[in-house]
Amino acid sequence: MNIEKRERKRILTGDRPTGPLHLGHYVGSLQNRVKLQKEYDTFIVVADVQTLSTNFDHPEHLPVDVRQVTLDNLSVGLDPEIVNIFIQSMVPQIAELTVFFSMFVTVNRLRHNPTIKTEATQHGFEENMTYGFLGYPVSQAADILFCRSDIVPVGEDQLPVVEVSRFIARRFNELYANVFPEPAGLRGETARLVGLDGRAKMSKSLRNCIYLSDPSKDVREKLMSAVTDPARIHKDDPGHPEICTIFSYHKAFNGKEAPNIEERCRKGTIGCVACKKRLFQVIEEILEPIRERRVQFEKPGRVDEILRKGTEAACIEGRKTVQLVREAMHTDYFD
Ligand code: TRP
Repeated sequence: MNIEKRERKRILTGDRPTGPLHLGHYVGSLQNRVKLQKEYDTFIVVADVQTLSTNFDHPEHLPVDVRQVTLDNLSVGLDPEIVNIFIQSMVPQIAELTVFFSMFVTVNRLRHNPTIKTEATQHGFEENMTYGFLGYPVSQAADILFCRSDIVPVGEDQLPVVEVSRFIARRFNELYANVFPEPAGLRGETARLVGLDGRAKMSKSLRNCIYLSDPSKDVREKLMSAVTDPARIHKDDPGHPEICTIFSYHKAFNGKEAPNIEERCRKGTIGCVACKKRLFQVIEEILEPIRERRVQFEKPGRVDEILRKGTEAACIEGRKTVQLVREAMHTDYFD
């Protein structure tokens, strides 16, 4: 059996629908997706089942969150004419592959996975985690492999999870037949964004984010009240850009001006307020086209139509892959 030859390489990536996406997602992965969509066949998973791996007690948020995440992806510039955006739980072949793969992945491999460890601590699950949470890298491998994708653009925190998919692809090919390409994780240019409060990471649960869907007024307020260098009391005090949240955003979004701002901050010739105002303009230049596109996709029924079409396309790929998997695993009983 052969890995089918395709004209273009395939990308699979996606998000958990747990709420609106923020600038950290934008620099860590969304921007990369938009750039790559013309060059690669692209599938975007809205990973609703994976959300349940931590939020199983609040499924009622899913209908809104699934559409919100889809809208965020469309607003940043993913083109529904060339990209398939689909709902994980509505591609039954993903669930089927998860079961088959789980037979040859050991519990120890999952328990020692760095991302699982970190997230378990974050959620307070160290002593008592569900089977579904521990196994989410296996289900994520099924997200990635159901369409036999080649490349997985993700934020750096997710690279160890993609490692499990690589292992599963290799092990499957070795045990049964050569069905899967080994998917390569691809990290965005900016690894991660610190939170508005100066904490290591912009994260919804820490409430320190600028959302892609925030109106201008909120963005301004959030930036103006963000922490800078606590040692700077007067605006002509020399600053320490290396510890300043606002400067880290200049580096991420305003690369050209950043060296000049850094110099002026150190000399005390630009104050924090002026520095924040400039950053606000730069971020607004990014967010404004995102808001405009969002309005287009907010027309009633549009997002659902896109999700339906994407999910159908995903099911077609899923059926092809499961066929190959069943042949390889001797479970295609009635041809
Ligand atoms: N685990 C990813 C996150 O939390 C979301 C995700 C689910 C994903 N399935 C995926 C990412 C497949 C890449 C590929 O951000």
